[in-house]
Amino acid sequence: MSEPGALSSRTLDDVKVAGQRVLVRADLNVPVQGGQVSDTTRLERLVPTIKELADKGARVVVISHFDRPKGKVVPEMSLKPIAEALAAVLGHKVAFAEDCVGPVAEAAVAKLKDGDVLVLENTRFHKGEEQNDPVFAAALAKLGDLYVNDAFSAAHRAHASTEGVAKHLPSFAGRLMQAELHALQKALGHPARPVAAIVAGSKVSTKLDLLNNLVAKVDILVIGGAMANTFLAAQGHNVGKSLQEADLHDTAREILKAAAAKGCEIFLPIDVVVAEKFEANPATSVVKVEAIPANAMALDVGPATVDAFIKRLPEIKTIIWNGPLGAFETKPFDASTNALADAIARATEAGKVISVGGGGDTVSALKMAGVQDKLTYLSSAGGAFLEWMEGKILPGVEALSRNLSNLG
Ligand code: 3PG
Repeated sequence: MSEPGALSSRTLDDVKVAGQRVLVRADLNVPVQGGQVSDTTRLERLVPTIKELADKGARVVVISHFDRPKGKVVPEMSLKPIAEALAAVLGHKVAFAEDCVGPVAEAAVAKLKDGDVLVLENTRFHKGEEQNDPVFAAALAKLGDLYVNDAFSAAHRAHASTEGVAKHLPSFAGRLMQAELHALQKALGHPARPVAAIVAGSKVSTKLDLLNNLVAKVDILVIGGAMANTFLAAQGHNVGKSLQEADLHDTAREILKAAAAKGCEIFLPIDVVVAEKFEANPATSVVKVEAIPANAMALDVGPATVDAFIKRLPEIKTIIWNGPLGAFETKPFDASTNALADAIARATEAGKVISVGGGGDTVSALKMAGVQDKLTYLSSAGGAFLEWMEGKILPGVEALSRNLSNLG
């Protein structure tokens, strides 16, 4: 079994693709509002792989899921508008087929000429996708001579298009998959030390595996967001009306104990920004964590906490960041995330630190902070990034390594 996140698969450097039908597992699960793609980041990240394959004369067949139609055809979850958006981002014609297996898909693939790009309909319109049904995987594999997985962000799913199909075709990591694994490996696999992880978000309960894995791997663990309230309360602080998980105080104390045993420093807020109501631009004050008023709630980490961490930056060599520090979508509770993002971006640009961010809200928060291009790497993955940070084996990545070892 490969080390979680390690790249032990073949890449596009190891294969001749001209004239071949290349089945590319992309992640076209992009945000859509009013029928229009509202953020094209994931599409832009696919350009290097698709363009390279098309330029080298491959017949590119793109497969992906979109949303969660649960094995049924849901017209609003068609990939057709996303295929159109992909064509615009690629600057290349993209054909579309209304099914991803069977006669419709086979006829569309048969029409392709070298250098053409085709997107097939949502794989999750078939039950076999999420069930990782071998018959469905074989039907997908029939459409290609080679398989390229460029969907790191879906690699935590053991589905037919991410895992099953690799059992049937010579398989390769696409350029985005390669870049994601390389960056993650640098951040947590064999990082330059000391390593600091910033983990924030609303609930400790959703990040237990992650916290337990990180205390054994990183030197400093910064905890922010509403999660920090649970830790502060577990330490005996009165957190007023702040969001927290009262049933997890024992768990929080166990994490603190495990961290102490492993020599991992836990960095909790020393001050917070509080308000009586959670709304835009309410009356706020900054208080020490020992003095949170009973009728107030902590909605952001305070400036003294951010300053204290920024002062530590010169000693840190690697930073991995998951989760905004405060309720960043509502002003002014984006202040600490923005200030920290800015400091980390500057340290990264000065070549002093390797910084990797990713997972769910993190990408939006770091984009709002204007640093999306200023970190060493910003992952396009949500759940897959978290599972990788939890130290789990990602089935999509594992399938590529297994394919390599099967070939001897
Ligand atoms: C994502 O957006 O994180 C991936 O595309 C996976 O989507 P899923 O959570 O619906 O499997």
